[in-house]
Amino acid sequence: MNVLVLGSGGREHAISDKLSSSNSVSEVYVAPGNAGTSQFATNIDISVNDFEAIKAAVIENKIELVVVGPEDPLVNGVVDFFLTDKELKQVAIIGPSKEAAQLEGSKDFAKQFMENHNVPTAKYKTFTSKNLKEGFDFLESLNPPFVLKADGLAAGKGVLIIDDLNEAKTALEDMLLNEKFGVASSQVVIEEFLSGIELSVFVLTDGKDYLILPEAKDYKRIGEGDTGLNTGGMGAVSPVPFAQGDFLNKVEESVVKPTIEGFKKENFNYKGFVFIGLMNVNGDPYVIEYNVRMGDPETEVVMPRVQSDLGELFLNTFNQKLGDSTLQIDPQFATTVMLVSGGYPESYQKGFEISGLDKTEGSHVFHAGTTLKNGSVVTNGGRVIAITSKGKTMEEALTKSFKNAEVIDFEGKYYRKDIGSDLK
Ligand code: AMP
Ligand code: GLY
Repeated sequence: MNVLVLGSGGREHAISDKLSSSNSVSEVYVAPGNAGTSQFATNIDISVNDFEAIKAAVIENKIELVVVGPEDPLVNGVVDFFLTDKELKQVAIIGPSKEAAQLEGSKDFAKQFMENHNVPTAKYKTFTSKNLKEGFDFLESLNPPFVLKADGLAAGKGVLIIDDLNEAKTALEDMLLNEKFGVASSQVVIEEFLSGIELSVFVLTDGKDYLILPEAKDYKRIGEGDTGLNTGGMGAVSPVPFAQGDFLNKVEESVVKPTIEGFKKENFNYKGFVFIGLMNVNGDPYVIEYNVRMGDPETEVVMPRVQSDLGELFLNTFNQKLGDSTLQIDPQFATTVMLVSGGYPESYQKGFEISGLDKTEGSHVFHAGTTLKNGSVVTNGGRVIAITSKGKTMEEALTKSFKNAEVIDFEGKYYRKDIGSDLK
């Protein structure tokens, strides 16, 4: 079958790369893709939110499977668009319906879901401009630090963690009255602060059954030692050494099972990935957030460890046959180090030529923000290249990634040299 992956980052490169080695896959298309995906797939230059253009591409290229990478088209209803279209409804599309995508699109929706289905999470309340005063009272009832979350999508920037009560009140006012994060903050979730170590667990579900993919830890801040501004993610490792055995069993029993049961009870049309952001609080998992897609750069360490045929897994997901599937996972460690543009996550320049791409050894180079210009690969985003390596130990994998992070170069290149160092 021919497949189409929607998106243009390292996540989409890693997914389309895995699909290209699937026995059930003939041609791989990526929309819009990047310079990396163009090496083995056909890029189609359309936006992930232009559903009519996606439809035309699916029909023209006889696509039978569509994998949606980012959250935006899911929250905008791309799955519903396919399922209600005469010509598209036979196409297997991987992702949840618009309704279920609210698990990522609205923090309040996600918290209500967790509360209704007994999924452990931080205590919370939701406020609008109409009950600002009650918001202040709720802040006063909590211990610092205070966690304030814009309800809607805010490109990973909508969460504030503030130590001082008065500052927290001002921030709440700014979010609700002055739309600090635009309409995304017209509702604000305030929640209890959870103290622990974070990790991400990934589940593939057909709405009935599920498979748990390898877990991963990502490094969100720009600076070493987890300092500075939040980014999309500066690197990742999988497996996560502190999250084995008993802890992962608890995650399955107290988080994954009630989540999937909740999908059934809510009658969600959910055939896709669930990315569960967790906090390990003294050995017990608490859900920080749901995302309705894979993580980036987590995909760049998860996919290389998946040995099962991904095309087949996706078809079984769409046909609700995941109960018959098993997952083969490479027990080795995978690590990824993200090379980013100078200035990221604030303003940065694009268009710098990337050298050394053909000189790396022992790593898998996934393109994140790249494009082709006059035959050369140039930078085209904040996150540019993810260098994934495998090894029997995390150390071995990291050594390869860091070595190749020096081999690949472009003006202003920056990367964190401490990925994984907190886990050794
Ligand atoms: P989110 O966008 O919900 O993933 O939040 C962004 C980041 O804020 C998370 O990755 C956590 O590091 C942090 N965070 C969110 N909620 C909490 C919480 N209740 N307690 C502690 N840290 C949190
Ligand atoms: N790396 C975090 C995310 O994909 O949301």
